[in-house]
Amino acid sequence: MTAPLPLPEPAAKPPYFKRHIFFCLNERKNSEASCAQHRAQEAFDHCKRAVREAGLAGAGAVRVNKAGCLDRCAGGPVAVVYPEGVWYTYVDHSDIDDIVNTHLRDGQVVRRLELDPGVGR
Ligand code: FES
Repeated sequence: MTAPLPLPEPAAKPPYFKRHIFFCLNERKNSEASCAQHRAQEAFDHCKRAVREAGLAGAGAVRVNKAGCLDRCAGGPVAVVYPEGVWYTYVDHSDIDDIVNTHLRDGQVVRRLELDPGVGR
């Protein structure tokens, strides 16, 4: 049996994307809450457009991704930004614009939209 390879040092090479934002787009057919009930697809589409229009999209910059359930449904709709691991909830396009301009572009957390740490499924 061979020894496992060590993980690379985080600063050893630049990441392919500087930041990732994942939007939960999960839709449940039963009575349980899900992010799709809160216009998550529309928010995702708006974020994609805003990131592209701000010139932030692509390698070395920002990637906007769809996700399934992120298991924090009670706070939905939710999105998470990595590498910082900051969780957000949002209501409208101005909230998404704030996340794009303040966090994805400027690297600052949008405190007013942070998901409560205790929120789960
Ligand atoms: S349905 Fe969105 S986090 Fe679970």
